Amino acid sequence: MAVLVTGGAGYIGSHTCVQLLEAGYDVVVLDNLSNSKQEALDRVNSISGKRFEFIKGDILDIDLLDRVFTDYTIDSVIHFAGLKAVGESVAKPLLYYHNNVAGSITLFEAMQKHNVKNIVFSSSATVYGISDRMPIGEDAALGPINPYGRTKYMIEEILRDIYASDNGWNVILLRYFNPVGAHPSGLIGEDPNGIPNNLMPYISQVAVGKLKDVNIFGDDYPTPDGTGIRDYIHVMDLADGHLKALEKLKDSPGAVVYNLGTGKGTSVFEMIDAFYRASGREIPYRVTSRRPGDAAECYADPSKAAKELGWAARRGIFEMCRDSWNWQSQNPEGYTE
Ligand code: NAD
Ligand code: UFG
Repeated sequence: MAVLVTGGAGYIGSHTCVQLLEAGYDVVVLDNLSNSKQEALDRVNSISGKRFEFIKGDILDIDLLDRVFTDYTIDSVIHFAGLKAVGESVAKPLLYYHNNVAGSITLFEAMQKHNVKNIVFSSSATVYGISDRMPIGEDAALGPINPYGRTKYMIEEILRDIYASDNGWNVILLRYFNPVGAHPSGLIGEDPNGIPNNLMPYISQVAVGKLKDVNIFGDDYPTPDGTGIRDYIHVMDLADGHLKALEKLKDSPGAVVYNLGTGKGTSVFEMIDAFYRASGREIPYRVTSRRPGDAAECYADPSKAAKELGWAARRGIFEMCRDSWNWQSQNPEGYTE
């Protein structure tokens, strides 16, 4: 019995594959490499010392999915595949709805046809939109404010409807807060295309000398130091959450949602300071205007995952910065194949 990991060559997928392989799971990765490199999977293989199947292909390709579910004995799916850049989703909404929503529907149709009814889906804290209640529990109102967030919300709804129509399905929706960090080996990590949109890869690239300074998007928020507060979570803790979710699927949980965050908020200034302490590198910065759509603060109430999955984040901000720096300094150009 194998786990099908869509998007397994990506940032979170590659770290999860390492942990799945180390825990003894058989793994089949399906990824079209639109935002990742084969080299990441070669490194997953060297870290884990385990072999696994890789199929280069698209979740929109129904014939390919049919073959995958025929050729391998899959009993559950972890579904990471998707596009994730908020700004790009505003500029190219159809690309996002097609790839993420139509792609997911195609995957779910293939699962239904082959009687594979166990799924863990990568959702996001972005489905909450701008929430005025902190920390954010799973029962908070949903209201994504951009096309990317709406794809996540729609896929959640589709999965809830599938479960309502057939209680034989088991659906775990994981809403990640802000994934950062890298495998402690420094062999795999986050490798964004072009100039990073997100804070941690931006800081890392400033630290390594690829970018000049960090633009801090506003220091006039109603937070203690005026900069935005987020719930950063180490990607290794996040990966561990997926293993816990896979185990939970065996208890026939129905369709359930969990926040994966630490419950602790960190400001932009605090993150820059922590990165300096972890790397020993000065991080020049300048304060610029707010980025449209950014909330002042966003952090999770992760207690449901603690209670029901037996999962809690173990790594703190220092380890997140240390491991991001380890990856960035060993791989200043990211994967180079
Ligand atoms: P990533 O871009 O590194 O990984 C996604 C992978 O999916 C890539 O390897 C890409 O090539 C693949 N892919 C995309 N479309 C595909 C398709 N049609 N068919 C096959 N493969 C396809 O992103 P990530 O950071 O690892 O995120 C994984 C998942 O988690 C995504 O669904 C993302 O939306 C979600 N998520 C990410 C974050 C974050 O900040 N990184 C936060 C919340 C949720
Ligand atoms: N920030 C800067 N400068 C930068 C980048 C970010 O000051 O160059 C600030 C932002 O204003 C925010 C904080 O750093 O206060 C974090 O910003 P990120 O872009 O790293 O993360 P976001 O919280 O905006 O969003 C990310 C993903 C979303 C996802 C969300 C929750 O981009 O897709 O986390 O998982 F939905």
